[in-house]
Amino acid sequence: MKNLFRAAGEGSPLVLLHAFPLSATMWDPNFTRLREGNMLVAPHLRGFGGSAAGTTASMDEMADDVAELLDALHIERAAFAGLSMGGYVALAMWRRHRARVSALVLADTRAAGDTAEQKAGRAVMAAEVMKGGAAVAVEKLLPKLLSAGASAAAKGFVSEMILANRPEGIAAALMGMGARADSTPLLATIDVPTLLVCGANDVITPPAEMREVAGKIRGAKYVELAGIGHLSNIEAPQVFSETVSGFLAERA
Ligand code: MLT
Repeated sequence: MKNLFRAAGEGSPLVLLHAFPLSATMWDPNFTRLREGNMLVAPHLRGFGGSAAGTTASMDEMADDVAELLDALHIERAAFAGLSMGGYVALAMWRRHRARVSALVLADTRAAGDTAEQKAGRAVMAAEVMKGGAAVAVEKLLPKLLSAGASAAAKGFVSEMILANRPEGIAAALMGMGARADSTPLLATIDVPTLLVCGANDVITPPAEMREVAGKIRGAKYVELAGIGHLSNIEAPQVFSETVSGFLAERA
């Protein structure tokens, strides 16, 4: 496994899949709580956190990387928590490696693929990032990633994380997200315990869409976090971690 990753804790394996254009570092605010009773595995997805990527980093390739990492760690099955792009990868895990998935946490994400317009927008942004660097992603995305009420510390944490990524990795993930499959038909096949979490002020993957996704997964639990934006685990680390821990403990 080429990608760097961080692991901590003992207990049931929980794989944390990060958002775009961040890295596994985004789970730092949740690590202490989530490691209670869980063995955490937080990989840097392909192209992020110093890892390499080609011109496209597909969600399927990212999922296969994660399966490879689990092989290396001798982990047969795990719960997967993915936020936004991490949720796309979690759904790709379900599509490609479902025997390894014991539970799903889908946070601030969507099942649908991109529209032609969204896909074209991603290609434009990929070119801009390749020209102007990761700072372009900060400038364009930061106002959408966090709500207006987010702290200066949260903004600084997210900006720094984005700036630490290579433009090539950011561009490759943009192309990969644009090419991703529509996972909506998969939702009816999900038969493991599933939790959906969404910031009520999420403007990237809005609550209405998350609610619709929840309605298509048998027995799924849906939790909305008032006053919180897209990166809900960073804006509301305590309530996010409690919600995920509570769900995992109930399931056990
Ligand atoms: C993310 O937060 O991972 C991305 O904003 C998702 C996306 O652009 O579709």
